[in-house]
Amino acid sequence: FALFKQHGLSVDLIGSAETNVTVSLDPTENLLDSDAVAALAADLEKICRVKVIAPCAAVTLVGRGMRSMLHRLSPVLAEFGRERVHLISQSSNNLNLTFVTDEAMLDGLLPRLHELLIRAGALRTDDAALFGPSWQVLYGRNPVAVREPWWKKEQARLLELAHPSPVGRGLEAATPRYVYHLPTIRERARALRALSSIDRIYYAMKANAHPAILHAIAEEGVGFECVSPGELAAVDGIREAGAVPRLFTPNFAPRDDYAYAHQHGVPTTLDALHPLQQWPELFANREIMLRVDLGRGLGHHDKVRTGGAGSKFGLPLDQLDLFVALAQKNLTRIVGLHAHLGSGILDATHWAEVYGQLASIAEKIGSVAYLNLGGGLGVPSHPGEAELDLAALDASIAEVRQAYPQYRLWLEPGRWLVADAGVLLARATQVKRKGALNYLGCDAGMHALIRPALYDAWHEIVNLSRLEEAATTLYQVVGPICESGDVLGADRRLPETSEGHVLLIARAGAYGESMSSNYNLRDLAASVVIE
Ligand code: LLP
Repeated sequence: FALFKQHGLSVDLIGSAETNVTVSLDPTENLLDSDAVAALAADLEKICRVKVIAPCAAVTLVGRGMRSMLHRLSPVLAEFGRERVHLISQSSNNLNLTFVTDEAMLDGLLPRLHELLIRAGALRTDDAALFGPSWQVLYGRNPVAVREPWWKKEQARLLELAHPSPVGRGLEAATPRYVYHLPTIRERARALRALSSIDRIYYAMKANAHPAILHAIAEEGVGFECVSPGELAAVDGIREAGAVPRLFTPNFAPRDDYAYAHQHGVPTTLDALHPLQQWPELFANREIMLRVDLGRGLGHHDKVRTGGAGSKFGLPLDQLDLFVALAQKNLTRIVGLHAHLGSGILDATHWAEVYGQLASIAEKIGSVAYLNLGGGLGVPSHPGEAELDLAALDASIAEVRQAYPQYRLWLEPGRWLVADAGVLLARATQVKRKGALNYLGCDAGMHALIRPALYDAWHEIVNLSRLEEAATTLYQVVGPICESGDVLGADRRLPETSEGHVLLIARAGAYGESMSSNYNLRDLAASVVIE
């Protein structure tokens, strides 16, 4: 350190071990040119071996109580794990944590860290008032068209629906209750049917199987993608809507499920060798579709990415020849190819890419007539995120179609048709101040909507009883379930909220009610449709 001092250089960060000491020099604090560093190194060489690493960058995470935050930073630490980190330093005031990496890494690293820390909510800092408008809103090339949600116009009707109604001598709870706006679903179905490059739409009914929704969708001329005998039977229940095309696309399903689909005349999709190897008689002289794994997954969360070696879906391409040989031997005709890489994709060119890949595989097989490009059409999941550009999706598929015009193209979206159409109404139960946090309890917990707990999903929450009032108070919006993961929204700014106020949780039409349970033996959330 005396040598550093002699050269007029002040050390910024330091890490030490028994055999070496790593220090960083901040060029903004020092008159640092290569001569100054070389002169220092020459003097240091007299007492140790010197290695100069440059240019470097220091990335500092700043926040209160960084030490207690470490367990929540694991995705961030994993990100650094991929880069070359020369030095990690934690400040003694517990306010920051600094990583020194190669400067060249910085441009790629910063957006990813931003995404992990702020957008994906690693720190649960969803407070829009704190962060202000998103980068995309401020500087994005495609300004985000903000569509006025239907529920703003329906405030009075929704408040009425959330009102407990008298039954017997008590009051029947009206919340938690899902409300679905059928006109929004019809509009979405029509927009998909209007895609000129797609021949047929199948609705992935796992997103929401409310009978009135199935009915409305069938009336719009959309078919159904089913994954269980229960889903197939639910579509049977709406037969009066007319002949409804169905697909059966299960995964690791028992033998009897395929037999059930065959009995009901529904074409099946296989995604493994096992069915052809173990139950060939079931598929002999039949047409099937084949789901392949294109080697990568996409989507809004790890748990919904359905491609690549780490996921259980799809036939790996190195087993394709064997599958085709087994099918030929068994007189099973592969008439369709299918891929679904994940859920919540906002990149409009994704489906065209899948099309190109499937088409080139289909050419090798020969008998394929249909390409099912999967679902996964995303809806914005954070404020400021742009909607999926359907026109761009259509145009990019049309372009690939010029190269492969011979196939009929299918899409099987779930979320995109129903997410915006559904809201979850809840009633505030209790408020509690604990430490620095304000907890706002409501009767809709993770039993009613599990997406925040399972995928860290972000759903807008408003106080419907005070919709016009300024959002002044920061709340942790929680449910009544006995788990600390029962948080519907962290750091949400709402008007001052009291017991009995109605909360609205938006964009809950997809994978809300269909994934709900009666955990803790709480009643299942009710649901109602409105026109
Ligand atoms: N096709 C297949 C083969 C699927 O597995 C899925 C969804 C879809 C289509 C429809 O995907 P969508 O268009 O809805 O993204 N519970 C999660 C989503 C799970 C998706 C499961 N598979 C969530 O709440 O985000």
